[in-house]
Amino acid sequence: MATVIKWVFISALGIFVVLQLVAIPTLVQQTNPTVVQEPNWDSEQTRTLARRACFDCHSNETRWPLYSRVAPVTWFITDHVVEGREAVNFSDWGTFNEEAEEFAEVIREGEMPLPNYLPLHPEAHLTSAEQEQLIRGLYATIGMSPTQPNEAADEHEEHEEHEEYEEDE
Ligand code: HEC
Repeated sequence: MATVIKWVFISALGIFVVLQLVAIPTLVQQTNPTVVQEPNWDSEQTRTLARRACFDCHSNETRWPLYSRVAPVTWFITDHVVEGREAVNFSDWGTFNEEAEEFAEVIREGEMPLPNYLPLHPEAHLTSAEQEQLIRGLYATIGMSPTQPNEAADEHEEHEEHEEYEEDE
């Protein structure tokens, strides 16, 4: 019996090591290219919120924690960053023509930040007040005035305390 356990352990270890070797080409993709150009942020506050909730996947300033280097986790994380940067990159804004409505939609519907990212990154969680702040900030940054918020309209009372947003204008 002891030998069986020993061999199970050795095989598991072997598989783990092989996975790490297979993942090497993925590790090479875990880079942070130079920041080319950020958007012309309407306020530092908008940037801070975006940095907290979006930058890991949508900028060239991704934090790569130790576990992100370990297969099989590394494949999921690297894919998110590669695809995230392709969709929106706050560090290379010039090449993007993202619509503010698109941001409002993915943020309000809880699609972004990706829900499976939140358990390990509680700091990226946005309260509904912060979501609205970020949305308004992104509208201002992109240069449009926000359309009337729809589902979020009923939550507007609790936003009163966030007057500092107006002061930045
Ligand atoms: C854990 C990684 C991750 C985080 C954090 C994240 N995103 Fe994304 N985002 C992605 C990926 C991957 C895609 C591309 C695939 C997709 O559309 O689901 C994407 C796509 C998008 C798109 C394009 C959607 C479309 O359908 O074209 C927008 C807009 C977006 N994200 C905004 C945000 C905003 C705003 C935040 C912060 C509040 C954020 N994302 C945080 C990973 C992330």
